[in-house]
This record gives sequence, C-alpha cells and structure tokens, in this order.
Amino acid sequence: MKKLLVYLKGSRLQCVLAPLFKMFEAILELFVPLVVAGLIDTGIAASDKNYIIKMCLLLVLLGAVGLAFSVTAQYFAAKASVSFVKRLKHAVFEHIGKFSYTQLDSAGTSTLITRMTGDMDSVQNGLNLTLRLLLRSPFVVIGAMVMAFTVDSKAAITFAVIIPALSVVVFGIMFFCIPLYKKVRFALDKVLCTARESLTGARVIRAFCKEDEQVKEFKERNDALTVIQEYTGRISALMNPITCVIVNIGIAVLIYAGAIRVDAGLLTQGAVVALYNYMSQILVELVKFANLIISITKSVACAGRISAVLETPVENDDGTEKISAESENIVEFRNVSFAYDGAGDYSLENISFTARKGETVGIIGSTGSGKTTLVNLIPAFYRATKGQVLVGGSDVTEIPLEELRAAVSVVPQKAVLFKGTIRKNMLWGKPGATDEEIMKALEAAQAAEFVMQKDGGIDASVEQGGRNFSGGQRQRLTVARALIKKADILILDDSSSALDYATDAAMRKAIAEWQGDTAVFIVSQRTSSIMHADKIIVLDDGCASVGTHEELLKNNAVYREIHLSQFDEEESA
Ligand SMILES: Nc1ncnc2c1ncn2[C@@H]1O[C@H](COP(=O)(O)OP(=O)(O)OP(=O)(O)O)[C@@H](O)[C@H]1O
Ligand SMILES: [Mg+2]
Repeated sequence: MKKLLVYLKGSRLQCVLAPLFKMFEAILELFVPLVVAGLIDTGIAASDKNYIIKMCLLLVLLGAVGLAFSVTAQYFAAKASVSFVKRLKHAVFEHIGKFSYTQLDSAGTSTLITRMTGDMDSVQNGLNLTLRLLLRSPFVVIGAMVMAFTVDSKAAITFAVIIPALSVVVFGIMFFCIPLYKKVRFALDKVLCTARESLTGARVIRAFCKEDEQVKEFKERNDALTVIQEYTGRISALMNPITCVIVNIGIAVLIYAGAIRVDAGLLTQGAVVALYNYMSQILVELVKFANLIISITKSVACAGRISAVLETPVENDDGTEKISAESENIVEFRNVSFAYDGAGDYSLENISFTARKGETVGIIGSTGSGKTTLVNLIPAFYRATKGQVLVGGSDVTEIPLEELRAAVSVVPQKAVLFKGTIRKNMLWGKPGATDEEIMKALEAAQAAEFVMQKDGGIDASVEQGGRNFSGGQRQRLTVARALIKKADILILDDSSSALDYATDAAMRKAIAEWQGDTAVFIVSQRTSSIMHADKIIVLDDGCASVGTHEELLKNNAVYREIHLSQFDEEESA
C-alpha cells in the first residue's frame, strides 16, 4: 500500500492546499452562527436597520469567500487525485506489460481490467474525498462544540451528551455496513461476470439454445445482489431517522433550557439560535465523515488490489548472452520438460531436437498434446521446468528479452488483430515498412486479394479484435504481420487451420520462397501441411518423436494413424 504513495509525489503541493482551503472555508462557516446571533440580538432587537444590512452583507461576504475557498479546494483535490491515478495507471499498465505468460495465466485478464478501471476510479474518489473532508469534518465538529461553549457553557453541555450519542449511532451503523458493502461488491462482481459472458458469447448461447439458462443464471445472481443491497440499504437508511431524532431531542432540550435562561436574562435569543445552528452543523459533518470513512474503506481495499499487481515481481530480464550468428543450430531443445504452474502433470516431457537455419520443422499431434506449449518455449513466453532451450547457442533465459523476441516472429494460434488499419497492424511486424514490403508480405500470406477488395486497401479499417474479418482472413493477416518482420525464427501455430487445402498449399509455397535463412516451425493438425518439412516432431501426450515424413510413416504409429485418417480427404482435395 505504501508503495502507492510515491505516485503522490508530483502532487504534493495540491495535497497540502486542498485541505488547507477546506479549513479556511470551515473557519468562515463557524463564524456564520455568531453573525446571525449578532443580527438578532443587536440588529433586530434594537430595530437597527443599518446594522441589519451590514450583518446581511457580512453573511453574503462570508458565503462568497467560503464558496471561493471551497471551489479552490475542490480544484486542487480533483487535480491531485486525477494526476495521482493517471501516474498510477501508467505504472500499472507498464508493469502488467512486463508480466510473463505464467503471471498473466495466474492473474487472469478480467481482474486486471477491473483493477485498471473500477478500482482506479474508486481510489480516485477516495483520495478526492479524503483531501477535502478528512481534516474539515472533525475540525467543524470540534470547532462547533468549542464555539458553542464560548457562546454559553451551560447550554452547551447538551452538546457534550448529543455528540457522543450521534457518534455511536453514525459509526455503529457504518461499521456494521462496511462488511455488507464488501458482500454487495462481491455479488456485483458475479452479476458483471455473467453479463460479460452472455454478451461476449451471445452467438454461442443462441446456437446452443441456452438463452433460458443464461437468463435464469443472471436472474439468480441479480436477485442475490438485490437481496443483499436491500438489506444493506435498510440498515444504512436507519442513519438519517435515528440521527435526526437524537439531534431534534438535543435541539428541544437546547431550546427549552435556552428559553428558561433567556427568560432569566442569562442568555440572548441570538445565542440560542447560534447554538441551534452549531448543532445542525455538527450533524451534517458527522454524517459526511461517516460516508467519508466508508469511501476510504472501499478505496483502501481497491488500492490494495492495485498494489498487489504492482508488487508482483516481473520476469527478470538481466540476460547478457548473445544470439550467435555462427551457431550451427538456431534452436536446440536439451531434455526439456515443462509443467504449467499449478498443474500436476508435465505438458512436455524430456524433449530434445535441433533446428538449423533455413530448416522447416513440422510439429504435429492430437489436440492438447503440447504443440503450442512447445513453441511457446522458444521465445521464452514460458520457461522450461527442466532442461534447456537454446536459441543461437545461448540459453533463452540468458538472452535479453528484447533481443530474443526480435529474433523470433510468432503467429499465435488465436489470431489477434488490433483496432486501426491493416497498415497499422502490419507495422507491428516492421515499423516503417514500405507499401511494397507490406504488399509482398500480404501476397505471401495469400491475403493480398481480399485486402485489395476492401475499401481503402491496406488502409482499410480493422475493428477491435479484427471482427470485421473472417477467421481465415484474420489468420492470413497475422501470418503477413509475422512475415514482414523477417526474423531468424518463424513460428506458425496452427495458422492455416481455417484455410482450405489449396490456399494452405499456396501459402506454404510462398513461405518456402520467402524463407531464406529463417528456421520455420509449422504447427499443424494436418500431415499435408508438414510432410515436406526437413524434420517433423510428433507429440503424443507431451512426449516427442522426431523424424522425416517417410521415417515416421514407417516407425511411428501415431503419425501413421494421423496421416492415414487424413489421406483420403487429401487425395480428394
Ligand atoms: N495456460 C495453461 N495453463 C495450464 N495448463 C495449460 C495451459 N495451456 C495449456 N495447458 C495444458 O497443457 C497441455 C498442452 O496444451 P497445448 O495448448 O500445448 O496443446 P496443443 O497441442 O497446442 O493443442 P491444440 O491442438 O488444441 O492447440 C494441455 O493438457 C492443456 O490443458
Ligand atoms: Mg495449440
């Protein structure tokens, strides 16, 4: 938590000025009842018109200056809290960018999004309120009590009874409600989760006719939220009536005792009105203070969640080794085993193979056999649990990440495009690429034709996630983006799964022409996509067999089975 305070550094002055101006405003407010008392006792009692006008003008002046102080305080508080959250957001965003795949897996995307949005808003509100009220409210409560005693110490004894009674009610209800608010937040998270799932998966839900079930689940969660919200609402709603009853009893006592003392000539009428006004001020400030504490509690919980993200240690990137151009093998796996964090079993076991520059390596295996896991170890998205992965003769954990990732171009299994234009997406592969280079990459990826048919060609817009393209089009665009990078290693993870055989074959041919010294890893479920590779790795439940198409057909039952099951299909294609 303390870690977050450093982001207040740039706003130190505003953090001092905001409460200071709020205090000035409070001091002026404390004088108002005294002016009113003077107005009644001196002005009205003596029918002194001039005095009345003077006092009225003084009240207006107090109000105007108080307003100016208040606006100034709000300005500084808003500026400090917005700047603080802005700095914090930048820091968290940058930190998440350094998370390893393992950390992203364990954190989960949706909670990271909540922490970057809802939690940040809550911290911003909390800080804003704290700067404005944390000093002001107790100051007004104590100040009003002190002023009441200066007006008339005997009558002010009522305050000494009422304030503790009010405090017990206000803070009692507040402490009772805080855990309930947490429950409300939890129930709200659940409703939001169902809503998000329903919206993102709307088509699948309809395709499986699951609308009724989804509506039922949403209703259940929403009802649970309503119940807990109503319960919390009922309890917190007690605050106003109970405090009003106490204050009104106090006021009745005050007026009664005041009347007796006025009658006896010990107190003026104006003083009674002033005491009454102080009582009201105290009530308002105590309720504000209670709400402030609720806000602070919420913000502190949210700040804790944000702080947890910042405190997660990131991948250390202190490698100093180089990728050697002379190394015989561009990629080498030495007895590599890998298990995901928290998973009991190994997803890859004891894998060894080498790949030279310019070679093509095919990787095949049934779904869940570990193909994606294997290729993810090359750019060190995950780190081997046992054994060593070498790129250019150096252990990937010893190579600076920037250098390693520059040497590897990946087309992930899930085709991801970013909102913008096709050109903008292509420039991710190579900043500053010319139109000619972009077109060449698009042609090799068999994407040029459909891109040219789009309005604007390579400047055609891409919607969020590339949803204005078909699955196969998206795949080809991600392949083009990787080709344009022209790295030492190219990884295509099932990148032709949505393509027909002819387009797949044309793309493979174009990539072979483009390949040069690049080592290409092709992950596929189809033997036709990899049968011409220099080396084929067959994965079966995390274990690998390596060979050529002919060798594997002869010696590897899994490969033979996959090939034969697809043979007829390919023949007829
Ligand atoms: N992020 C993850 N966390 C935990 N386990 C995982 C994770 N990703 C994959 N696995 C597990 O590792 C094993 C291998 O998964 P992998 O994604 O490498 O398979 P694959 O061969 O690429 O399958 P597919 O052909 O369906 O893409 C599976 O049993 C899977 O459940
Ligand atoms: Mg996969």
